[in-house]
Amino acid sequence: MSLHLEAKPGEIAPTVLLPGDPLRAKWIAETFLEDVVCYNKVRGMLGYTGQYKGKRVSVQGGGMGIPSNLIYSYELIHSYGVNRILRVGTAGSYQPYIKLRDIVVAMSASTDSNFNANRFPNATFAPTASFELFEKAIRYAREHDIPVKAGNILSTDIFYDDNPKYYQQWAAYGVLCAEMETAGLYTLAAKYGIEALTVLTISDSLVTKDELSQQEREEALPEMVTLVLSLI
Ligand code: HPA
Repeated sequence: MSLHLEAKPGEIAPTVLLPGDPLRAKWIAETFLEDVVCYNKVRGMLGYTGQYKGKRVSVQGGGMGIPSNLIYSYELIHSYGVNRILRVGTAGSYQPYIKLRDIVVAMSASTDSNFNANRFPNATFAPTASFELFEKAIRYAREHDIPVKAGNILSTDIFYDDNPKYYQQWAAYGVLCAEMETAGLYTLAAKYGIEALTVLTISDSLVTKDELSQQEREEALPEMVTLVLSLI
């Protein structure tokens, strides 16, 4: 047990998929896993353990933003011995060549959050993916003809920005897209010596202002989930 997770010891697998949305965790568990058990309902942040092709894996909702994600990631690592966290999520494109439905693998995550400022005063830390997981994800994508983009993403604290052109400064430095969690997750993974990788599906574009409908998202997500489940 921990403050935000009510699982008993051993109920969570060492590898956890961590979508932001708890209902997406439920959908992943029910759609892709067998022998599924729900181990968490605290705050409605659903968590499940099941089997994928004979391998044990958990899927846990992590909420939106770095603070929420880090509460769950920290408790998974410290209270349940989790050693691999695979974030699956959606992101907004910052580049004209990154289109709706594209899959992005986050090599690194810049951030406008201040959460690392106390750890590294007057300096910046570069949150980086696990090379092993990253390499495996790219290899799987190549072997299965899944076109993926890979590079630096932005983990932003602001979803509704006052300035519609805010993204352009990051785009000018080659940042591919924005989400709200990975810089925190990669930092925690580095600190505690676990492996982490974020894989994202583009759900909207800051460049074209297009966005996927709820139904289009549901249809677009299985390819990303299958790719991530191949890593376990
Ligand atoms: N910004 C931040 N997070 C997001 C976005 C976005 O445009 N789209 C999906 N997650």
